Amino acid sequence: MTKPNYPSAFLHPFSDIPTLEQSGPVIIERGEGIHVFDESGRGYIEGNSGLWNAVLGFDHPKLIEAAQRAYARMPAYHAFFGRVCPSALELSERLVAIAPMKASRVFYANSGSEANDTVVKMLWLLAEAEGKPHRRLLLSRRGAYHGVSVATASLTGKDYVRAFSGLPMPEVRFLTCPHHWREARAGESEEDFSNRLAVEIEQTIRNTGPDLIAGFFAEPVLGAGGVIPPPKGYFQAIRPVLRKFGIPLIADEVICGFGRTGALWGSLTYDIQPDIVVASKAITAGFFPMGAVILSPELGERVEAAAKRHDEFPHGFTTGAHPVGCAIALAAIEEIESAALPNLRRVAPAFQDRLRRLGAHPMVGEARGVGLMGALELIADKSSKRPYPAELRVSERIARQALKNGLICRPLGQSVVLAPPFVISPAEIEELFAILARTMDEVHAGLALTAG
Ligand SMILES: Cc1ncc(COP(=O)(O)O)c(C=O)c1O
Repeated sequence: MTKPNYPSAFLHPFSDIPTLEQSGPVIIERGEGIHVFDESGRGYIEGNSGLWNAVLGFDHPKLIEAAQRAYARMPAYHAFFGRVCPSALELSERLVAIAPMKASRVFYANSGSEANDTVVKMLWLLAEAEGKPHRRLLLSRRGAYHGVSVATASLTGKDYVRAFSGLPMPEVRFLTCPHHWREARAGESEEDFSNRLAVEIEQTIRNTGPDLIAGFFAEPVLGAGGVIPPPKGYFQAIRPVLRKFGIPLIADEVICGFGRTGALWGSLTYDIQPDIVVASKAITAGFFPMGAVILSPELGERVEAAAKRHDEFPHGFTTGAHPVGCAIALAAIEEIESAALPNLRRVAPAFQDRLRRLGAHPMVGEARGVGLMGALELIADKSSKRPYPAELRVSERIARQALKNGLICRPLGQSVVLAPPFVISPAEIEELFAILARTMDEVHAGLALTAG
């Protein structure tokens, strides 16, 4: 029997259609702290902050107030033709001041995809203006997630991108995913693995032709690839290679930015020293759609010089630098810096400890994470690291069972991912892991029954 509300006029993004046909959508009506509640009033711990973004929870009064004030003052305006609202100017100053590198300019979009896409266009704008139109190739890593637009889906190193005819675009070159547990050779240390990947990058650049490469995109911690922190020395090994060839490093901080890794930026946690930072998600704590591109002084100048060759800067979004979004972002950043990030730093050790302890569970091959993000990589056999057969959809089973038990966690490939709001309390962390441990026992027992 089809559940009410499915099918409906709503086409669900990134959702499994057979599951929807079987059980219908979960309709989320409201939120409170780190919990969300469905239409029947059932509460769930939101173990993923929505989509990594609702870092201040689902009812933060300061952000709601900031939004109400901004809506009352100027509910809608744009930033084209030299016009701009005060909150956009103020937010830009703030972002330049707190950026993980020396920064000079900020450009606004409405999402992480649009912001990364904007970077691609900026790099191509520079190539054209600087007399090197062939400098178009983009370096990315397998397992990376950079968005869903044509260019950013192409930068995304996941198989489903091939569902779209012609993607990834031919401009993208993929490098090895920096996942030591899965990709390292037997006995290879993290440092040796990092050095090998730096050699791979150098060889790729030399073989491709350094003059053809416009930029290197990297998440400080691969997020949708399954929370993969870089191996020791990774960015230290690849940075000099990129510098040697003058290739800009774009830190996609859409997930890591604004505290997720324990510092304000993943680039600070891992000493990345990027040329461009892409921010989104936590920038407004998920209370408003926003993406931002933060440029180093050198790139800021080059982009402006390139734009001067045209009648006007040839790019912009209708609702980029929205006055309400900028006001919310200012309030969110203040709240993150003054309260939420200090709380995250207090609770992160317990979070990581509970996560690592689940690493002993028979279904878990690797428990990994940093700050307030983590993943459990599921395996059928610990010694050979043999994964479960894909058709068993083990991570989905865990997520579905966890939902029944009152926890939202995310299945990503063969891993289960957690990234709760920064405002989570120590007691809530205990509760989250107690539910997850029980859920995994239940799923494990169910699998054993099926196999038996
Ligand atoms: C690292 C990273 N970059 C870009 C994006 C795309 O952002 P959006 O979904 O806002 O377009 C995401 C989304 O999860 C992301 O995790």
